[in-house]
Amino acid sequence: MKKYDFDQVIDRKNTFSFKWDNVSYGDRDILPMPVADMEFPVADEIIAAIDKISEHKILGYSIVPESLQIAAQKKIARDYAWETKLEWQVWIPGIVPGITAACAAFSSPQDGILTAVPVYHPFHLVAGWLGHPLFTFPMIEEAGRWTYDFIALEEALKKGPKVFLFCNPHNPGGTVFSKAEIKRIKDLCQKYDCKIISDEIHADLKIDSSVQHTCIQSEISFFATSKAYNTAGLGGAVAIIPDPAIRLAFQKKTFGFFPMLSRHSIEVMLATYAMPSDWIDALLPYLRSNHDLLLSRMNQLPGIKMLPLEATYLAWIGFDSKLYGDLQKRLFEAGLHVLRGDQFMGSDFVRLNFACPKSQLLKAIEIIENVVHAAR
Ligand SMILES: Cc1ncc(COP(=O)(O)O)c(C=O)c1O
Repeated sequence: MKKYDFDQVIDRKNTFSFKWDNVSYGDRDILPMPVADMEFPVADEIIAAIDKISEHKILGYSIVPESLQIAAQKKIARDYAWETKLEWQVWIPGIVPGITAACAAFSSPQDGILTAVPVYHPFHLVAGWLGHPLFTFPMIEEAGRWTYDFIALEEALKKGPKVFLFCNPHNPGGTVFSKAEIKRIKDLCQKYDCKIISDEIHADLKIDSSVQHTCIQSEISFFATSKAYNTAGLGGAVAIIPDPAIRLAFQKKTFGFFPMLSRHSIEVMLATYAMPSDWIDALLPYLRSNHDLLLSRMNQLPGIKMLPLEATYLAWIGFDSKLYGDLQKRLFEAGLHVLRGDQFMGSDFVRLNFACPKSQLLKAIEIIENVVHAAR
């Protein structure tokens, strides 16, 4: 028998699910594919970690044990070829608050925050949250993948932002930046004295098995196991900050704002680091097969275009708005919730989360095909 059954459909309604219990759905039967969590049950090792706490019945404050620090250090060295020191680590409840704290520490209303667009929305929203200027430059399609417009990156850096928010693998483009691209980004940011804050949360979710994740090894790099092991609701992440002064400046923006990590989060992260590779070895082929199915069906539709992803389970699907108008709205009316590209500062796109049983993905594809055919 297979250890993991990614085909099983688990009812998540009435579980306070951000995805399934969205108030805008009302009584409608909507298939939700927005926010980035997976429809798959977590591995037994994670359940065992939670059961251990339930049996113990104590939910007091927790510390981050050295065993967790060592586990993260080993993973970063083994999987991403970066040798780090334990004292570089700062454990935080989530990467989004970490990004906000990093921007609060190193950007100001006089300079600003830079990011490529489209991008995971907190990367551009953070500027508004803090009242700092936002600078953006576009991703471009090159050789069948999304990459940076490096000329535009340099022009944007000339405007004087002090923080560059780097998403690798990129959400929503699915790009895993190559060593050469990373060197170019690092050189440019160094030239204009701009700190790189790197978010590598999707690093394990390789759709293209030939790509290698390369750490940018910048001023602050964030890692978490929460995406690949489907524990996003529990939080927990680590910031790797080699420079002690930068580390302290970052920490000062977290004191009093960030809660301590919960015991659940700590025990579950420990479990994910200790797990054999069989979860990832089973998950990735399933995600790849969903990806390939979606890619081929989308690219058969007129005025619809999807580039193959190198990583993540978030498809970035372009559409011709002259043909389809507001496609996101049409899909919603037909029973499928995908995110509007504008949320990521990319118009005429939708983002679809395909980390679900194949039966759900097939239903979503059918809705898209019906909406497209009805519009013609
Ligand atoms: C690129 C990226 N960073 C961070 C997060 C969320 O991280 P956290 O839950 O640790 O705040 C997501 C969630 O989708 C994401 O896609």
